[in-house]
Amino acid sequence: MGASIEVVEPRLLPGVVADEIIHSVADAVDEKGRCSLVLSGGGSPGAIYRLLSHPPRVSEAKWDKIQIYWGDERWVAKDDSQSNYRMTHETLLAHIKDPKPMFSSVDVSVDTPEEAAQKYAETIRKNEGLGQDELPSFDLVLLGLGSDGHIASIFPESPVIKNSKELCSAVRTPDGKGHRITIGLDALFSAKQVIFIVRGERKADIVKKVLEGDDPFEKIPARYYLNAKGSVMWFLDSAAAKKLTNVPR
Ligand code: 6PG
Repeated sequence: MGASIEVVEPRLLPGVVADEIIHSVADAVDEKGRCSLVLSGGGSPGAIYRLLSHPPRVSEAKWDKIQIYWGDERWVAKDDSQSNYRMTHETLLAHIKDPKPMFSSVDVSVDTPEEAAQKYAETIRKNEGLGQDELPSFDLVLLGLGSDGHIASIFPESPVIKNSKELCSAVRTPDGKGHRITIGLDALFSAKQVIFIVRGERKADIVKKVLEGDDPFEKIPARYYLNAKGSVMWFLDSAAAKKLTNVPR
């Protein structure tokens, strides 16, 4: 299925994306009684999560039918300021009254990032009723876009790229100072729907390279969206889209 690009004024981006998420989640729940939703970390989605967890939208989602996962997590304690779990708890989970969504976060209390990745893969397969080597088909995956073209914690030239079928891996950060746990490329892009959320002028160069360039995905992992099995929607604010040549204005 193809990719769509929607360019939105910066102040309107969170509401437009939040409405699309509510719509997609409702479709999945109506169709099969549940929705598997993979959250993005980073700075862009926070405003969207806040809209989802407050009136009026908070009452539009059947939260108890939603199974939440994280596309990636930093190898830090859950209360660390760098934790994606903490950011999503503060902006989304803490504000949703009962019935709350089911969520499975990365267990960062185990001894090593590798163990955490292995355990997360087992958790996802158990929740989704999958066999040992099966990959999930998440209903909706949210992704940001790093200025270097990374998605989740899949960084350029990372060894995890060639292991695209690995459900969950531990990786080192490019600066070598930390570790991340990330869901792999094929699991992310086997989703029925992927939504990218990209805002800000500092992303204009990478957005052009991803959407109008021809770099291999080893160099720009976000270009793996071209292998997506489901639909891909790019939600860009006008600043992030400013260097695109052929885009609906
Ligand atoms: C993370 C995210 C990461 C993020 C991009 C974009 O854990 O940080 O998974 O992939 O989406 O780095 O981040 P911003 O939205 O802050 O630009």
